[in-house]
Amino acid sequence: MITKVLTIKDLKISYGAIEAVKGINLEVHEGRITALLGANGAGKTSTLRAISGLVPSSGGSIKFYEKEISKLSADKIAKQGIAQSPEGRLIFGDLTVEENLRIGAYTVNKRIMEQGFARCYRYFPRLEERKKQISYTLSGGELQMLAIGRALMASPKVLLLDEPSLGLAPLIVKDIFKIINDIKGEGGTVLLVEQNALQTLKIADYAYVMETGTIKIHGEASELMNDKRLVDAYLGEH
Ligand SMILES: Nc1ncnc2c1ncn2[C@@H]1O[C@H](COP(=O)(O)OP(=O)(O)OP(=O)(O)O)[C@@H](O)[C@H]1O
Ligand SMILES: [Mg+2]
Repeated sequence: MITKVLTIKDLKISYGAIEAVKGINLEVHEGRITALLGANGAGKTSTLRAISGLVPSSGGSIKFYEKEISKLSADKIAKQGIAQSPEGRLIFGDLTVEENLRIGAYTVNKRIMEQGFARCYRYFPRLEERKKQISYTLSGGELQMLAIGRALMASPKVLLLDEPSLGLAPLIVKDIFKIINDIKGEGGTVLLVEQNALQTLKIADYAYVMETGTIKIHGEASELMNDKRLVDAYLGEH
């Protein structure tokens, strides 16, 4: 049976006169990786930020399981079990790795926080080695691990990842994608925003392709990989 963790209907997001998201429909199913692909400016980050309550929607509905969350504050949404790893990582540079991770657990009790640390360090042993290191001295790949780790700290019911592969070397991208797949393997639910379409489709179950605020194509990832329109539009360079 399919359980819908997120059900988005006719979502609209505007910044003043600019309509960045023009009424999209999207579902995230439990235990699956759902990808949201698209070029620069398509509206991917805006969509994630609306789910997290970081930007207001101007229309439509966002349901987390059965509950409408589109009017809740970011704080209340985080407490429901929705965690986002933001684009550009947004780590507190002056804090240590461990301190940054602890911030990710601010909504949960000590026991869940301890589980979070164990899980983060299992996925990313390098973060454990560097737990006392000041975060601004981390490499790009380590910062990305920290951003994902921080989002995992509260054991969220759904993990929103905004371009985790951005600016990383191919080998590190491979590691990060493997861990996203492992998160799913342990029953996790992921909404993965990416521009790296080909690699994303390899680990995703279902994918949506956004262009200028609308969903152009959606379908099973395995089918989209063989979709000539998608390949022409987004995978041309591969
Ligand atoms: N705070 C804001 N104020 C005004 N316009 C914004 C704001 N945030 C985003 N936009 C505009 O909304 C549109 C969608 O932006 P968004 O960041 O959602 O795209 P994206 O798909 O995440 O792109 P990228 O792949 O480059 O990260 C863009 O045209 C952008 O300029
Ligand atoms: Mg973005």
